[in-house]
Amino acid sequence: MVSEYVFKYFVVKDQLNTLKKEALKAVESVKSEEKLEELKNEYLGRKGKLTDILKQLASLSIEEKREVGSLANDLKNELAEAFETHLIKLHSSLDSGIATKEWQDLTVPGIKDPRGAIHPLTQLTYLIEDVFTSMGFEVADGPETEDDYHNFTALNIPEDHPARDMQDTLWFSNIPKLLRTHTSPVQIRYMESHKPPIRIICPGRVFRKDDLDATHSPNFQQFEGLVIDKNVSLADLKGVLTVALRKIVSPDLDIRFRSSYFPFVEPGLEVDVTWKGGWLELLGCGMVHPNVLKAVGYDPKEVQGFAFGCGVERVAMIKHQVDDIRLFYENDPRFLKQFG
Ligand code: FA5
Repeated sequence: MVSEYVFKYFVVKDQLNTLKKEALKAVESVKSEEKLEELKNEYLGRKGKLTDILKQLASLSIEEKREVGSLANDLKNELAEAFETHLIKLHSSLDSGIATKEWQDLTVPGIKDPRGAIHPLTQLTYLIEDVFTSMGFEVADGPETEDDYHNFTALNIPEDHPARDMQDTLWFSNIPKLLRTHTSPVQIRYMESHKPPIRIICPGRVFRKDDLDATHSPNFQQFEGLVIDKNVSLADLKGVLTVALRKIVSPDLDIRFRSSYFPFVEPGLEVDVTWKGGWLELLGCGMVHPNVLKAVGYDPKEVQGFAFGCGVERVAMIKHQVDDIRLFYENDPRFLKQFG
């Protein structure tokens, strides 16, 4: 005669086997992720069927407990894997049953899971690069820590110019370097190592001791542009900037060129665009100053050129009608989601 003890042991093993068959069959018929989650809870959850069976373990001997415990563990793993495999199956056939086809349309929208996206400022930088490369420009790069010579001196910014003042510039205390205050030093670095003709844009971060407000940040992004060739004129500068900005922002963008001063261009201009009933400054530009050309060993009688430096955040504000620059840095998903 079988003792009650041994009988319980066989009953539990039998229950585990039945549970396995039942669960595997049930999983196969599930058609949605929600139902699959429910089923998983029903079998493997804290108050699920497997836990119910395991409650009976208390009345088994130590060896039996060990054996049944290991069986239960294997079953748990097997079922968890079956649920996972079925979930992948559901995902791959989502929307239109495409998994049953021999081919897959890779452009079908993916599963709606909380995936990250490219930051709007990076998206805009890619667009800026696309627009300018389509106009024959190359993309160049330069260091974010600069020396005085490339950030100021070579750009015809004299020793006593206020831009060198501690109010504007973030200097390192232990080395004679600074965080670049604009992308214009890339002009110098590029001209030092290349001969004309030159057509480049240089996107990158810049740093200033500016207070944070709705249109200013101490750490922001610019893209620099530089064209050096024979017979380049102010008309070329205006034409290139008007076409590019309209491609980047919108075809009907209202642009104003206003005369201004930068030591490294002559004449110098600023470009404003309409903004909340007024104007917002987007960029500085002008014809490259002869002293800058001389500093890199070019002959100003042989070649001329134009340059511009534009705030990426300012372009993003205009393009997307965002009225506070700080929103681009706060990383609030409700804001970022609007850009895909
Ligand atoms: C310059 O930085 C010059 N290097 C631009 C230049 C290049 C002029 C080549 C001529 C030839 P400015 O300091 O004005 O200029 O800055 C250029 C643009 O950067 C501004 O028009 C604005 O769009 C943006 N900008 C300036 N300061 C900030 C700030 N604190 N936060 C956000 N954007 C800013």
